Amino acid sequence: MGPVLINVAYIAAAALFIFGLKMLASPATARRGNALSSIGMLLAIVVTLTSREIVSYEWIAAGAIVGAAIGAVASRLVAMTSMPEMVALFNGSGGAASLLVGWAAIHGQQDVAAFTAFVAFLSILIGAVTASGSVVAWGKLAEVMVSRALVFAGQRFINGLLLAALIAVGVMFTMEPSTTSWVFYAIIGLALLLGIMAVIPIGGADMPVVISLLNSYSGLAACAAGFAINNNILIVAGSLVGAAGIILTNIMCKAMNRSLANVLFSGFGAVKAATKVEGEVKPINVEDAYLILEASSSVSFVPGYGMAVAQAQHVVRELADLLEENGAEVTYAIHPVAGRMPGHMNVLLAEASVSYDQLVEMEDINPRMDGVDVAVVIGANDVVNPAARTDEASPIYGMPIIDVDRARTVFVLKRSMASGFAGVDNPLFFGTNTRMLFGDAKESISGIVGQFKG
Ligand code: TAP
Repeated sequence: MGPVLINVAYIAAAALFIFGLKMLASPATARRGNALSSIGMLLAIVVTLTSREIVSYEWIAAGAIVGAAIGAVASRLVAMTSMPEMVALFNGSGGAASLLVGWAAIHGQQDVAAFTAFVAFLSILIGAVTASGSVVAWGKLAEVMVSRALVFAGQRFINGLLLAALIAVGVMFTMEPSTTSWVFYAIIGLALLLGIMAVIPIGGADMPVVISLLNSYSGLAACAAGFAINNNILIVAGSLVGAAGIILTNIMCKAMNRSLANVLFSGFGAVKAATKVEGEVKPINVEDAYLILEASSSVSFVPGYGMAVAQAQHVVRELADLLEENGAEVTYAIHPVAGRMPGHMNVLLAEASVSYDQLVEMEDINPRMDGVDVAVVIGANDVVNPAARTDEASPIYGMPIIDVDRARTVFVLKRSMASGFAGVDNPLFFGTNTRMLFGDAKESISGIVGQFKG
């Protein structure tokens, strides 16, 4: 294929990526958007395979088969609730791939231009930081290592030293690029260490932000790798991932009312000094919950991580249908960081065929909460914790929440008094208008559905 044709195909692929991304913004078009971007990627791969000096098709085929097999098995086996861990590993693989591409761009080359050496350095550096940082993030999320933030004296000083050393070896590498010198191995070693050091002081509810940021890094690494091997589509795709990742990071920081710097350096979850909450809990049983719901004209479901654990979305929708038949107005209040990944609740509810217009964003439901007869909290905890509004000592102070405590009655469906992801007590459970419906959310909702059906 000639260079003009290749670039035309790359532009077409880039356009497909961009339109695909745009369509991901709405649940109604997201599937088609995903398909469109995938077609763009297929086009990019096919064109690249026909156009570049391919060293060995055998190795590429073997890699594709092994990679596809691992991906296919993993996506079948991984539970929905473990998706963030999977995304962390994806990001890490992307970073590692960019590291290797940067390496290959220099390996065995004579007279490498300073620019190529510099972008190869960037791709190795960001790739290695992403790879090791993502493994640590995976370890924290999967709880194979301590998941809270680890902070120690002199941490920032050590990070500063690491950064200074990396700049020094980066300059040396750019002036004399070689993959056999100690400088090259020092870059990889120091960058891997920096990735670990950057993620260990982050923990608790800040982990999703880190995952999104690492996603952005993996894009930047790919972009640098694209410059190193002079491949336009890799530059475009890398930039898109880098930009999308940073936008999502920003949205999540806003949802938690934090700045990115605060997330990265403040060590959330290292200390939990929130005010201890005490009071009387008022439990309710399925029969009484049914009676109250049956008499309600406005009900808002507030799903959280526990709905995902219980896989209660289908029975929730069944109950919503029954309430609507009974004349009630039903909404689903969606908090931007409910669950364990962006859009987690939207995906679950879409799976249960809940109509998109019933989903109401936090900003829109809060002003209407006073008019809600019953707010049914299904396995949500942190995202409905009023301490975020009132307790300045709480680690989640300032995080916007869904104000369920302002509804006339609140049902909280959970199995125990245990805290949520952020590990803080929740005064909502002791509210005068709160009734605790203890038990697995799916069983509790099924019980209420059973009552409705007589
Ligand atoms: P959480 O605060 O984590 O609370 C979930 C609650 O679900 C728990 O208190 C648990 O209580 C209950 N639960 C678990 N299994 C259940 C079951 N089978 N039936 C009924 N209840 C069950 O959830 P949330 O309110 O959705 O908040 C999300 C938190 O995760 C935030 O802190 C957020 O920052 C963080 N986070 C978010 C993301 C994204 S991007 N969405 C990613 C990672 C972390 P019991 O054990 O008593 O049942």
